[in-house]
Amino acid sequence: MAAGAERIDFVFKVVLIGDAAVGKSQILARFARNEFTIDSKATIGVEFQTRTVVIDHKSVKAQIWDTAGQERYRAVTSAYYRGAVGAMLVYDITKRQSFDHIARWLEELRGHADKNIVIMLVGNKSDLEEQRAVPMEDAKEFAQREGLFFLETSALQATNVETAFITVLTEIF
Ligand code: GTP
Ligand code: MG
Repeated sequence: MAAGAERIDFVFKVVLIGDAAVGKSQILARFARNEFTIDSKATIGVEFQTRTVVIDHKSVKAQIWDTAGQERYRAVTSAYYRGAVGAMLVYDITKRQSFDHIARWLEELRGHADKNIVIMLVGNKSDLEEQRAVPMEDAKEFAQREGLFFLETSALQATNVETAFITVLTEIF
């Protein structure tokens, strides 16, 4: 097939949510462009990037939406969640508060998104093990109780970022 004439079988919208500075935008940059920026700026409003992957011989275009963790920079909530079939609920393993807020993010997500949405709980910054404030067991238990997938990632070291997205996309499928 000619370049640029690729066939797309499915387009899946996936949303990223979680507190400010947990690494949502860098997880997206790692997945979409295999890039990482150490001095990443806070997101204002909404951004999205796409990447097409092949799953089960089908070409799946992932349209990943990213918004600000900080309330005052956030976009219109209902529009953000509309049509989403997957979600990444992100916290920072070195910031206990970002994990404690996950229940609230989940509530907002469940209040706005489709009931069949596939949700992955993501503990980011796994490269900072010496600063860990959230035991992996706490997150595993929470995920199990709430019926979520769970992985720890490092956008910096590119650990599990690919696996996290592919798991969600495969499960949607
Ligand atoms: P908002 O847009 O404000 O909601 O923040 P965000 O969740 O998009 O965070 P962002 O991706 O901008 O990252 C915040 C900071 O954490 C930046 O300084 C990143 O370089 C850093 N960071 C992101 N991911 C990782 C990671 O896996 N490991 C480490 N060590 N730092 C990371
Ligand atoms: Mg951001």
